[in-house]
Amino acid sequence: MAGEIEAAGVEYVKAADGRTLALVIRNNFDDYAAFPPYLDSEEERAHLAEAYSGADPETERRTKAHMTPDENPLQIVMLNRNPGAVVNPHYHEVTDRPTNTTRHQIMICRSGRMRIGVYAKEGDHAADVDLAPGDLILMYEGHRIEFLEAGTKAIEIKEGPFPETDEADKVDF
Ligand SMILES: [Fe+2]
Repeated sequence: MAGEIEAAGVEYVKAADGRTLALVIRNNFDDYAAFPPYLDSEEERAHLAEAYSGADPETERRTKAHMTPDENPLQIVMLNRNPGAVVNPHYHEVTDRPTNTTRHQIMICRSGRMRIGVYAKEGDHAADVDLAPGDLILMYEGHRIEFLEAGTKAIEIKEGPFPETDEADKVDF
């Protein structure tokens, strides 16, 4: 994905200077066609036919959304597919290593409710984002996490490698 795309169920949190601090994807996101792959070239279509069983470009375009800029270290792809759709066996090669200076983190709310404070790494508070089940936030820089309901469950995914201690892992404001 090159730029940021406006769509229902997608929100961006920005710093004062305009840089992106967070991407929020709500559980009701359904606008797959607004995001790549657009599959405009013959080459892209030919690769698609090889890599996916039974996929045609139009279906691919409507059922897969690349949500994140290509240079991001964590790539979020939303899928919406029916039985019979198969991604053929593969692995992912390292090409370029990311150049970000803060390790990115994703939080996915599984149940309950949680509030994410989004901060610039300088400490400025940009927004509070409440997550309900199925909501996801990708955080580029600072964050505060508050659990609002008993038994709130979430999945946290962040870039590694994890430093040896929790103290070395975080910079507290
Ligand atoms: Fe894969």
